[in-house]
Amino acid sequence: MKHASENRPVDLVAALALARSPERPGPGTPAGPAVRDWPGPSLPIPDAAVGETDLGAVLRLSLAASDGSGRLRPAPSAGALHPVDAELVVGAGCSLPPGRYGYDPLRHRVHRLGRRPDGTPPGVTAELSVTARRTVSHYGRRAWPLLLLDTGHAAAALFLAARALGTGGSEVHLDGLAGNPLAAVRIPPPGGTPPPRGTPAPAELQARRSVPPPLQGTPPPGALRAVLATAARAGAGGLRWCAAVGPPHPGLVEPAADGTALRRYAAGDARPTLAAWAAGQAWIADSGAVLLAHGCPADSGAPHIRRTHLRAGFAVHLAHLAALRHGLAARPVGSWQQADLGAALGGAPGRDWIVHGLALGTLHADEENTT
Ligand SMILES: Cc1cc2nc3c(=O)[nH]c(=O)nc-3n(C[C@H](O)[C@H](O)[C@H](O)COP(=O)(O)O)c2cc1C
Repeated sequence: MKHASENRPVDLVAALALARSPERPGPGTPAGPAVRDWPGPSLPIPDAAVGETDLGAVLRLSLAASDGSGRLRPAPSAGALHPVDAELVVGAGCSLPPGRYGYDPLRHRVHRLGRRPDGTPPGVTAELSVTARRTVSHYGRRAWPLLLLDTGHAAAALFLAARALGTGGSEVHLDGLAGNPLAAVRIPPPGGTPPPRGTPAPAELQARRSVPPPLQGTPPPGALRAVLATAARAGAGGLRWCAAVGPPHPGLVEPAADGTALRRYAAGDARPTLAAWAAGQAWIADSGAVLLAHGCPADSGAPHIRRTHLRAGFAVHLAHLAALRHGLAARPVGSWQQADLGAALGGAPGRDWIVHGLALGTLHADEENTT
């Protein structure tokens, strides 16, 4: 199965095998422009009238480079390279007139690309694809899993932005088998399903950051359980979820079947091994806990690789916000080599690989570190 990106097909099966191998990426290459070169003039996004999807506000909370720090998006991205591009398919009931548009996150403006396709539903559908060159520039052969994870994070950022603004009925599509877009998020006009309780507020989305290492301090069991439950719920289907915890009872924990408790299923401190597997990032060995998405066997086909990585990114993003809500520090960890968790636990090799991670610590420990 092939992917098209920048008109070059990518064999995902081969790309994942390379990314998982111990071989280091070669020297860096130019990342290219931060925004895709959309054709035609750029247009402002109008304010929303009552009853319309406030597209400008959704994008400000998810994809727009909104602060003056040079940060390219409110959502996280491996290496802060932000390779994800968004095309907006606008139907009735949106602050932008119907049509297809390319989004410029640096200027927070759009370029009209054409008419809306027949059958476009009301509201807006954000179609996500990637400029692979940006992530390849730093990660080389390790880029493709990160590109898919980044796309999952961006989809989650759009989904949460719509919820934060009062729209609960968004549809997230992470199951396209091949080609572009990699993912799509449809946001209906307001007035339908309300968001569930516990939805992060706009200010929480704007405040989200990947806390710089070290992320020390073991999360309290209740907080860890909530973060794991959020991830496992959002990232079900082809993935399993666990957390590696440190002292006083180092080991691996997973959500118990009824979701109300944590079940310890392996003893011993996995964090030093995780640090070695995550491109040798030593700080991971001292983090309070590491949430892990795992699965995606070595013989997976391209559709499974694509789906599991998109879902892992989506779910880790929701888990990141849940962690902040529970007063934890968090940082995604996406580059894994030789991370055959199943084999390390005595199982058959090649069946159960780490796909994504979220390092967790307590903010209290973080504050102690800085005083
Ligand atoms: C898919 C993915 C993988 C990441 N992997 C790592 C990692 O391995 N190590 C790390 O320190 N940060 C990692 N990050 C965090 C990014 O460095 C961070 O998102 C970026 O610098 C932007 O900062 P912000 O999240 O505070 O906006 C990752 C982020 C994403 C989305």
